[in-house]
Order: sequence, then structure tokens, then C-alpha cells
Amino acid sequence: KKVVLAYSGGLDTSIIIPWLKENYNNCEVIAVSGNVGQGTELDGLEEKAIKTGASKLYIEDLTKEFIEDYVFETIKADAVYEGKYLLGTSFARPIIAKRLVEIAKAEGADAICHGCTGKGNDQVRFELAIKAYAPDMKIIAPWRTWEFKSREDEIEYAEKMGIPLKINRETNYSKDKNLWHLSHEGLDLENPANEPKYDDPNFLELGVSPEQAPDKDTYITIHFEKGVPTAIDGVEMDGVSIVEKLNEVGGANGIGITDMIENRLVGMKSRGVYETPGGTILYYAHKKLEELTLDRDTFHYMELVSNRFAELVYYGQWYTPLREALTAFVDQVNTVVTGDVKLKLYKGNIIDAGVTSPYSLYDEDIATFDEDEVYDQNDSAGFINLFGLPIKVRAKKGFIK
Ligand code: ARG
Ligand code: SIN
Repeated sequence: KKVVLAYSGGLDTSIIIPWLKENYNNCEVIAVSGNVGQGTELDGLEEKAIKTGASKLYIEDLTKEFIEDYVFETIKADAVYEGKYLLGTSFARPIIAKRLVEIAKAEGADAICHGCTGKGNDQVRFELAIKAYAPDMKIIAPWRTWEFKSREDEIEYAEKMGIPLKINRETNYSKDKNLWHLSHEGLDLENPANEPKYDDPNFLELGVSPEQAPDKDTYITIHFEKGVPTAIDGVEMDGVSIVEKLNEVGGANGIGITDMIENRLVGMKSRGVYETPGGTILYYAHKKLEELTLDRDTFHYMELVSNRFAELVYYGQWYTPLREALTAFVDQVNTVVTGDVKLKLYKGNIIDAGVTSPYSLYDEDIATFDEDEVYDQNDSAGFINLFGLPIKVRAKKGFIK
């Protein structure tokens, strides 16, 4: 028997290895870590996986594909979950799961296992993506069945099985990190009345809080081609470098810290703090360019699409016909989202500093308060008469209170 395990090296996925061997006829466990830019978390992982009992560890570099095919497609849709969450964990799951399936097939594995709890969104995202690419694959989710009830139970089991632990890090928040974001959940954050410990130098990892940011502003100009960021301050860069660079300047200026109570797909509300410095800048800049280049109807329709797209991503429905169809729509809309957005970053704020585009629909000759040739103000009288006709009718009938 062979099981492919989505492995991070944390406490949960570490104890899963001996647990699987005990509970699935001493099966072979093949650990897989999808690298989506979580950085140092991957250091020493292979040694750790082998010591813990895995037969091997695959580290799959998915960062470029993650940023270009998942993250940027989601920015193009302006998709934000519940008005605040930039979906950092959500779109990482389908890409990792797809790779798990490819490896499971290549290895002839009997099952895929993940370390998500039975109370969260991630289990849904992993499993929907596995079903999309391997509809008959057996899925093992130990959290939903095993006997451990607390972290203490897990630690005790880990010690019994001789698993190397870094307790200091692992008594920490439940975090999920990739190139796009870092999430914090659990511990004192579980009570929404508590202010996050921003003063604790170990809390924020991708940047500083606005108070700690410099008293001086930073200007930055982002260039987009068809909705995709391609250059910063005139220097062309690939997608991964753009996100890295914006994380750096955004983080230094206290940008992109979000504290929210969100509605999980499985029904409960949960509280999390997210750090998305570069992402927050990119979303802002993209939308700014749309202000200039999209006509009113399309701009307003995008607001509907954005919401629906965000739900699909959050719910783990990436590999679905509706997500693909909305992507086709969004790609069409973005054919005019080309140009330069200049922003001023200052103590957690993003301030507009000018926007230009070859597809700009803004016409100074029309918008001006001065006399102009194209707009006849007399046209408005008739327009308002017809636009207001339904109101006038109701008023005449005495229906307006
Ligand atoms: N609540 C966020 C989401 O549903 C973050 C989840 C973080 N996941 C984790 N395994 N720590 O996308
Ligand atoms: C988990 O429960 O495994 C993490 C949180 C989530 O998936 O929402």
C-alpha cells in the first residue's frame, strides 16, 4: 500500500506519517510539499520527512504557476472574499492538490492524505481538486477520524513515536504562508474582542504595522498589460519578482494587514489576521486602472463577477465550468486594462498619485466645467424628463409618501 501525503513538516502532517503506517497496514508514505513560495519553511524538510518515516519527499516548485495562473487570474477578476480577504490560502489548495494527484498517479498510490481539520475550508478545497483530477482516488483525512483531541495529544503521540519537533514554532498560531500571503488563526485571535498582538515583534512576519512604518512616503508605479502586472517603476519583471518586490515595499510601509471575521464554507464564523502587502497594492492598482478604462456597464457588472469569482475560489471550486467561464469573461474585460498606476504608500495607506492608459475612456474635453463642443447641456433636459417619467407618474397618482 502506498499513500501520497500533502506534507508541510508541521506538527499535524508530521504525526500523520506514523499514524498512517499504524492504521493502513504499514503503508509506504510518500510526502509531497508544494512550494508556493513559503520560503524558509522548506529548509531541512527532506531530512525531517525521512526521519519521521516517509520513504521520500517531493518538493514541487509551483510558485511561478501559482502566481501567474491562479493569483493573477484572480486579481484580474478583482475577486475579494467578503470584501476583505485576498484569498491567499484558497487558491493555493487547488494547485497543490492537482500536483498531488499527478504524483499519486505516477507512483501508483492507493490514496491521497491531507492534514486539514474537519472544521475548515482547506479540506474542501483539497478534496474538490482531487475529485476533479482523480474522481476515484481514496482520500484520507485523519483529523476527521483519529483519536487525538488536542495539540497536547498530538505532541504526546509525536514524542512516543520519536518525531523531531520544534515546539517553539509549533505552539504558535495556525499559520499558512505562501508568496502571496500569511494567515494567522487560533489562540487569542479566537476571541474577536481581542486586539491582535501587533506590538509583539514575532507576530507580523511580512511587514510592520503602520505605526512602525517610516514617516516618509514611498512612490511606486506599476505597469499592467491586459490586467497583468509586468513592470515596476519602468523595470520589467516576471510575476514572481513583482510580488516579491511589492511585498517588500508594501510590508515596509505597513500595507495589507487585514483583521476579519469570515464565514467559512462549513458554516462557522472564524477570525483571522492576514498579511498581504504586495497583493493589496496589486489589487488596488488593478482596480484603479479599471476606473479609467472600463465603461460604466462593464465596470458595474465586474462587481457582480468579482463577488461570485471570490466565492468560487474560497469554496475551492477552481476546477469548475463556472470558474472557467468567468475567467473567459474576465480575460475579455481585461483586454483594455493596460497602463500605468502611480501610488503613494504611507503608513498603511495606499494613496492615488495618477493613472494613465492608452485605453483611457476619460475625456477631459467632455468632463471639463468649461465650455465644450461635444456635450450639449440642453440635451439633459429631455433626458431627465424621460429618465424621471416613472417618478412623475407615481407622484401624480399621489403614491409618493
Ligand atoms: N481562513 C483562511 C481560508 O479559509 C485561511 C486558512 C488557513 N489555513 C491553514 N491551514 N492555516 O482561506
Ligand atoms: C483547517 O481547518 O485545516 C485550517 C483552516 C481552514 O481550512 O479553514
